[in-house]
Amino acid sequence: MSDTDFTGTNYSIRDEIREFWSARAATFDQSVGHETFSDAERAGWHRLIVKHLGEGQGRAALDLACGTAVISHLMNDLGFKVTGLDWSEAMLEQARAKAAKRGTDIRFIMRDAENTMEPRGSFDVSTNRHLVWTLVDPRAAFAEWFALLRPGGKALIVDGNMGRKSWVAVLREALSKLTGKDGGPHHMDPAMMKKHREIRSRVHFKDQMPPEAVVALLLEAGFRDPVVDRQMFDIHWAQARKMPPMRALERLASDRFAICVTKPE
Ligand SMILES: C[S@@+](CC[C@H](N)C(=O)[O-])C[C@H]1O[C@@H](n2cnc3c(N)ncnc32)[C@H](O)[C@@H]1O
Repeated sequence: MSDTDFTGTNYSIRDEIREFWSARAATFDQSVGHETFSDAERAGWHRLIVKHLGEGQGRAALDLACGTAVISHLMNDLGFKVTGLDWSEAMLEQARAKAAKRGTDIRFIMRDAENTMEPRGSFDVSTNRHLVWTLVDPRAAFAEWFALLRPGGKALIVDGNMGRKSWVAVLREALSKLTGKDGGPHHMDPAMMKKHREIRSRVHFKDQMPPEAVVALLLEAGFRDPVVDRQMFDIHWAQARKMPPMRALERLASDRFAICVTKPE
């Protein structure tokens, strides 16, 4: 069965996902939850990364779907030698500009996270934030991420079960229907919101994405010792403080998590 909307062409869901993110690249960093806006938030991310991956000490890290290189820079702060990978040239343009402005030596490559073409066993760690929910073929992606790590290497995944509506989201939607007002500025205009929903309906985790479902696929790929970590309150609190009240509550109530897995020695 084809995954394309355009019968007779090879324009696929992957092209649509890449174009969607490219269209958002220029303003991506303006949103709380994308770029960091306080030392407290940065400290929270550093804490999470060190907890699971340790200090960098010059080790090679691959930030998969790096976007505008927010996580890449947090990794760079900690002394990792970072490669940022994304398939959107528009995102990479923002990432390169940021790295130039900050004087960081992060290497950027334009590739598909499901098929990176990087040498096997060449990274000590890999990271990705908000990528897994949008993967078309997570089995292929996880097999690739497993192959890229050296034995003993670790992958840190940050994502959320966005298909699960929190009580706050339900309340906010009801209130916005009643008042015709939203709880705060949207990251996306209505057309982009529609496209976002459309894409979501066609990816692997189209409904819910509980961490257990992600872990099951990671184990299938060969990873071991999964740790699901929901202790990210410091990060979410720092983000919430920069958001309008309803969105802040929604952030605190949503099911967001990190998963760390290891490639056996
Ligand atoms: C929500 S953004 C997250 C960006 C960044 N990880 C962050 O947290 O700031 C999703 C990113 O994933 C990238 N992406 C999605 N699927 C990808 C794939 N298969 N290969 C490479 N990049 C991908 C998009 O281009 C976009 O930059």
